[in-house]
Amino acid sequence: MASIYVDEAAGSDANGTGTTEAPYQSLAQAIFAHGEGASLQIRKTADAEYKEPSPSSVKKAKKGAQGLEKKKKKAEELAEQDAKKQGDDKEKREKLLEESKKIVLQEDTSLPTATRTKIALLAPLSGKRIRVFGWVNRLRDHQGIIFVVLRDGTGYLQSVLSGRAAQTYEALTLTLESSVELVGVLQEPPEGKTAPGGHELVVDYWRVIGAAPGADEAFSNKLNENSDASIQAELRHLVLRGETASSVLRLRAYLLSAFRESLTRESLIEVTPPCLVQTQVEGGATLFKLDYYGQPAFLTQSSQLYLETCLPSLGDVFCVQESFRAENSHTRRHLSEYTHLEAELAFINFQDLMAHIEEIICQTVDKLLANPTAAALIKQLNPTFKAPSRPFLRMSYVDAIKWLNERGILHPAEDAEGNAIKDESGQVTMVEHKVGDDIAEAAERQMTDEIGTPIFLHGFPAELKAFYMKKVPQKEGESGPVFTESCDLLMPNVGEIVGGSMRIPGMEELLAAYKREGIDPAPYYWFTDQRKYGTCEHGGYGLGVERFLAWLANRYTVRECSLYPRWPGRATP
Ligand code: 4AD
Repeated sequence: MASIYVDEAAGSDANGTGTTEAPYQSLAQAIFAHGEGASLQIRKTADAEYKEPSPSSVKKAKKGAQGLEKKKKKAEELAEQDAKKQGDDKEKREKLLEESKKIVLQEDTSLPTATRTKIALLAPLSGKRIRVFGWVNRLRDHQGIIFVVLRDGTGYLQSVLSGRAAQTYEALTLTLESSVELVGVLQEPPEGKTAPGGHELVVDYWRVIGAAPGADEAFSNKLNENSDASIQAELRHLVLRGETASSVLRLRAYLLSAFRESLTRESLIEVTPPCLVQTQVEGGATLFKLDYYGQPAFLTQSSQLYLETCLPSLGDVFCVQESFRAENSHTRRHLSEYTHLEAELAFINFQDLMAHIEEIICQTVDKLLANPTAAALIKQLNPTFKAPSRPFLRMSYVDAIKWLNERGILHPAEDAEGNAIKDESGQVTMVEHKVGDDIAEAAERQMTDEIGTPIFLHGFPAELKAFYMKKVPQKEGESGPVFTESCDLLMPNVGEIVGGSMRIPGMEELLAAYKREGIDPAPYYWFTDQRKYGTCEHGGYGLGVERFLAWLANRYTVRECSLYPRWPGRATP
């Protein structure tokens, strides 16, 4: 008879088979698995010799094996009971489902006529019979009463299905995200209970309009809060149904209205410039090029040049238009397509421009906070949000460079070609900022977060900025970098949300700027004409709507602030 091996140090009762390669750990397990007659060999340490176990230890192990036998029997009994219960439950459920098919719910025409409404408009309908349409946002069955939280895009409504309404086949097979019609009386929730909006619908008639699948295809199996980022991106159309995503988008809608109201109040009028263009605004490197009936064309980077042409026609103007940037930036604040709110104002100076930007932002925030629905969304998404105090801090670019250096905030050293310089170990060499350096996103973020309030950073060197920006005139004999009348508005947690400037008003200076940037002036004839036919001092700005929303709603990334965000490689759904 082959011996059965037990190694008390290195064996395993769970995986062992009793060979020398896979010994058991306990004598009890060996006896339980191979019977009392088995020939046993045991060792206490991995380097000891195997030998026969002592009679007393065998006696003890036999008792242990009996215990194991009992445990096994018990487990088998339980499993059998479980299977039977499951079988009984299944049978019971099938019977219930069969019975439920006989229950047909019909709307009782003798009841008062139900008012068809949206959830947001329920307040004056308390105690009345109402009819609402929507999707099953939450679902719970408690002792034959079905609790549904209905979502119709305007809000959430707790609804209770009981009696016959909870016994139909549709009720027993109802799934999350099915679309339904609910009719019933709007009541206050029972004492001590709360419900969204402060009411509860006691349903007397309802029906499924479009059932959502259950089991493997069930909504909650496709998507839940643990789904990883790539699945969430792929299923953005389903993510949008979630409470947070839909709240962000609802706030976005209020935000756009509030911006439009503020801009209109300041006498700006809205125009809709084209997206298909043949001129660049913010540098050739980020243009999406396309073939336009055999001609080269681009998706617009900014509508600024078109807005400038509207000034003599319509006065001060704004637009809310998509802008496109083909930059390979995977940061939390870059999109390949974003909603760009841009405005242009005539006969102003640089101080007027910053005052106007501040006014529009503060008016917009005030309007949102004064609107109970928008204010509730802000509270939900960003509970500690406070309107920024005025005036916003104004800091010159040169002072910002000093500020960074005083705090030892460094930036990567670059060679003449703009490549990072590395030391022998491959580490990027970090150096102090000097005037003329671009303030990188990381340094800008550190500064904004530390200061903790909106900052107008102004007066950037001309060489860092776009061709159209007005330069600060140099005093006689002054040399060194030329600065521009430009400003970025930086917000805590996000960084730059607005970029603006005064524009070159003179023809000669503009032609020189094209030349310096290597831009062919021919396709810009209409923009240049602006200087030819009655020029004026003017300026404007662009605000990234997703960045503004990320600040307002405290979102980690602008990707959460766009309906269907586009970033490098992603254009689906
Ligand atoms: O600073 P930018 O490039 O300025 C312009 O396009 C000007 N022509 C606007 C004007 O004066 N009319 O962009 C303006 C704003 C930025 O401050 C930022 O908020 C946003 O647009 N923005 C982006 N938002 C998301 N993803 C990107 N890739 C963005 N690029 C700019």
